[in-house]
Amino acid sequence: MATCEHAAAAGGQSAPLQFEENSLSEVKRVIAVLSGKGGVGKSFVTGSLAVELARRGNKVGVLDADITGPSIPKMLGMSGKRASGLGNLLLPEISETGIKVMSSNLLLANETDPVLWRGPVIAGAIRQFWSDTSWGPLDYLLVDMPPGTGDVALTVFQSLPVDGIVVVTSPQDLVSMIVAKAVNMADKMNVPILGIIENMSYITCPDCGKKIEVFGTSKIDEVASGYGVSVLGRLPINPALAAACDAGALEDALPENLLPDAVAACEAVAPHEGDGAPAAE
Ligand SMILES: Nc1ncnc2c1ncn2[C@@H]1O[C@H](COP(=O)(O)OP(=O)(O)OP(=O)(O)O)[C@@H](O)[C@H]1O
Ligand SMILES: [Mg+2]
Ligand SMILES: [Zn+2]
Repeated sequence: MATCEHAAAAGGQSAPLQFEENSLSEVKRVIAVLSGKGGVGKSFVTGSLAVELARRGNKVGVLDADITGPSIPKMLGMSGKRASGLGNLLLPEISETGIKVMSSNLLLANETDPVLWRGPVIAGAIRQFWSDTSWGPLDYLLVDMPPGTGDVALTVFQSLPVDGIVVVTSPQDLVSMIVAKAVNMADKMNVPILGIIENMSYITCPDCGKKIEVFGTSKIDEVASGYGVSVLGRLPINPALAAACDAGALEDALPENLLPDAVAACEAVAPHEGDGAPAAE
């Protein structure tokens, strides 16, 4: 998938080439986490998947493609950290449990600086996070996408060798429309949708453990099967986890096996063939 003729046909211009991987990166699978709108928990799902995959002994990185709204470093305890350099390359910051992260948040002089970058600068940042970042050997690079299925998301799909897409929805979403858009984009980009995760799907009663669907009965199973897409999990609203994200303690706080089907779907993605032998260790 070096270029995409669909994008060229759709836009009437030549398709941009994929950004090149550098010689110090050996990324086996690139998995993008996408949502229809902001605030549904895309970053939370990206971070949680990263933690679960890392706990299973995988080498995991997160490329925070949400350049203007980065939130991965904070939830993985990297507040105030700055990415360092190695020659011409950037080095990702490494979390307590070994998850590598590159984010605009690690490059800003001040974490609370607003990022007012426009399209070309955003594309340039994503290029830096892929081509100019020394990822080393990774089993999984998760990409926390900017919200929506618009231009920025398209740029990411055209520029990075994405192997699969995980879609995050919430019960308040127009789920059917979001899934339709995601399926459409995936088709255009020729990337499979691994499945959908419904976040904030219900609350669990602290007294009796009953599941309460505060937003009404979930339509996710129905919508997903209508599009031939799998449901990879439904996550409850869990205020303790939100607090853990705020405190940079997701790695400690995340319960075991929160997203077994999503983990299995990631593990089912065929790795890119490298220079022969799998990354040593
Ligand atoms: N299942 C959940 N239970 C409780 N809080 C959650 C859950 N999922 C996400 N949150 C919280 O909701 C907020 C929004 O989540 P998150 O940042 O992951 O969304 P997002 O889709 O990445 O948003 P954005 O579009 O701004 O990047 C965060 O404070 C997060 O900690
Ligand atoms: Mg986010
Ligand atoms: Zn109860």
